[in-house]
Amino acid sequence: MNTEITIIRPDDWHLHLRDGEMLAAVLPSSAKIYGRAIIMPNLVTPITTAEQAEEYRKRIIAVRPEESHFEPLMTCYLTDSTSADELHTAFAVQAFHAVKLFPAGATTNSDNGVTDIKKVYPVLEAMQEIGLPLSVHGEVVDPEVDVFDREAVFIERVLEPVRKRFPELKIVFEHLTSKDGVDYVLEQDKNMVATITPHHLLLTRNDLFKGGMNPYMYCLPVAKTFEDREAVRKAAVSGDERFFLGTDSAPHPARAKEKAGAAAGIFNAPTSIGYVTQVFDELNALDKLEGFTSIYGARFYGFSTNGSTITLAKQEEAVEMDWQIKVGADIVKIFKPDTPLFWDMVD
Ligand code: NCD
Ligand code: ZN
Repeated sequence: MNTEITIIRPDDWHLHLRDGEMLAAVLPSSAKIYGRAIIMPNLVTPITTAEQAEEYRKRIIAVRPEESHFEPLMTCYLTDSTSADELHTAFAVQAFHAVKLFPAGATTNSDNGVTDIKKVYPVLEAMQEIGLPLSVHGEVVDPEVDVFDREAVFIERVLEPVRKRFPELKIVFEHLTSKDGVDYVLEQDKNMVATITPHHLLLTRNDLFKGGMNPYMYCLPVAKTFEDREAVRKAAVSGDERFFLGTDSAPHPARAKEKAGAAAGIFNAPTSIGYVTQVFDELNALDKLEGFTSIYGARFYGFSTNGSTITLAKQEEAVEMDWQIKVGADIVKIFKPDTPLFWDMVD
């Protein structure tokens, strides 16, 4: 039985760091573990230009712990009025590593998102040409569609038409939650990958209601059924290069989580690699961990793997910690599912 594992330092291919005090408070948790991260652009004022991205990148570097080499990889927030020409220019100076599609109204800070996919077809055309990946929040916002079906309906209404029209466009189907999503990715022969989060490896929709309604288990896309979780787990441990880690760590202050209209998003950075390792261990797939966390995503985004390693060890007793961090006068609670955590990063 394996109780310790050393892997190439992982990367996080989907991360929300926010800004200001929150950024400074949450960054050390990610910087300690990950070599690089794709930084989501959904700030209150979204990152839509190369200049904004560069300023944001500098703000991240400014609060990065001294000993860390963590590298933020910036992305562009796609709006109805994103200009294809500007993307060309930005791509030439490597300002963006991906362009993020948030359907307008789908999730936290998505009000400026895309209202109709056809409006951004000229931009997708340009991205296809230059090889800039499209990162998608794959949910429709149609209020008539059941919240648990929004990923599946997105495939049919948005993703499939885009794939047909732009077959060479590289797409990252972010935070896969459903069997339909996994099956769809598996059916594609090229240019289609997906990120998987620690929490979607652990949660089902039952967790939202266990012991009373629990906003700390609430994120979008929302966790789904046991069957869906099974499909997501199977994909993660399969060794198929199209599936890799994106934590979707998304901090919100406790006062935004603990209220009617609770914010969607789970702050999992501190426990992310421990829980992922634990799930791989439970599924007897520790030999597939490094590919999922440290190799496949780098390959897709055109990077070499990180030059250092990390070591994780299985503890005898469940890991104890504060399970919250302070952010100014607020606190942000750390993802703590119903499953005790035994795997911890020790080096
Ligand atoms: C994210 C956030 O809070 O920014 N929330 C979430 O539930 N995942 C946005 C997102 O990725 O959907
Ligand atoms: Zn996200």
